Amino acid sequence: MTTKTSSTASSTPAATLSGATSTPPSASPTTEATVLSGIQPSGGFHIGNYLGAVRDWVKLQEQYRCLYCIVDLHALTQTYDPAGLPGRVRELATELLACGIDPERATLFVQSHVPEHSELAWILSTVAPYGELSRMTQFKEKSERADYINCGLFTYPVLMAADILLYKATHVPVGEDQIQHLELTREVVRRFNNRFGPTFAEPMPIHKEPLRIMGLDGKQKMSKSLGNYIAVGDDPDTIRKKISGAFTDETRLRRKDPGHPESCYVCGLQQYFSPPDKVAELHEGCRTARIGCVDSKRALSDAMIASLASIQERKREIMAKPGLVDEILHEGARRARAVAKKTMAEVRERLGLLPAA
Ligand code: TRP
Repeated sequence: MTTKTSSTASSTPAATLSGATSTPPSASPTTEATVLSGIQPSGGFHIGNYLGAVRDWVKLQEQYRCLYCIVDLHALTQTYDPAGLPGRVRELATELLACGIDPERATLFVQSHVPEHSELAWILSTVAPYGELSRMTQFKEKSERADYINCGLFTYPVLMAADILLYKATHVPVGEDQIQHLELTREVVRRFNNRFGPTFAEPMPIHKEPLRIMGLDGKQKMSKSLGNYIAVGDDPDTIRKKISGAFTDETRLRRKDPGHPESCYVCGLQQYFSPPDKVAELHEGCRTARIGCVDSKRALSDAMIASLASIQERKREIMAKPGLVDEILHEGARRARAVAKKTMAEVRERLGLLPAA
């Protein structure tokens, strides 16, 4: 089941998707407030990523200094195809831009283009408590699935702490599954400051309604690796096919049975792609058995196709300009690196490392 959130009153489905709601940071921001978030280039950027995260990133750039990082170094901790990685990074950057990340307002960059991430991660690994790291749920889950457990999988949260602290980010929009990692970052800050003097502030998570977009199976969170997703770039036929096989309402066995839109996966997704009056009408039709699951699925597919069309159109426009994405990413890295270098100079001094020539 998808979690209920209120939809904005928008006139078109496309407007519903691109102008969606987001809850602002919980702490009252100062002008120094800096938002940083990261996303892995694992391929298959899906509607769960969009609705659960990137949609908020777009909103946040209106109010805050924002840095958005494509975390390719994190992606190395899982089995992946090196030949395909450059393509996945470029495609994700293109999709983020198509979703509305504006390089004039936010710094969009690739983690490995700023080598200070790795450098700070090493330093923080000498501060991060081993015991805490061993308790990370995501590490336990991932290591159960992995063929062999590499150390990077274990220190993954330390690299994430480096991503955040390099820019002294004050606010971090994260999904539920990353809250524990952010707690670790806060712990690292306390230990670092204790030992070396006040250097970093504890970053705050950006609280929003927990939005967990479930996968097409209706049982697990939508994810690339589980294959239960709709990609933001899926074409209309693929979307129709995937939705037609989606989970609906187990208790509605016959067409004439009244449905339960509140516990139906397809009905739940409607709210993100259609204006509220349309959603109400569809839910009522389901409840009174005026429409069946096939009709609900058709309505959802139509709305989703219409919503994603504008993002896909922008994606095509960006791809039509060769070199544009690389240019944006290089400029992003240049801006990010200027900040990262300053932080590292301060950190090196605090640690007592001899200045280089
Ligand atoms: N670990 C995050 C995820 O899988 C991605 C990430 C890496 C991140 N570095 C970050 C998120 C820094 C927020 C801040 O979703």
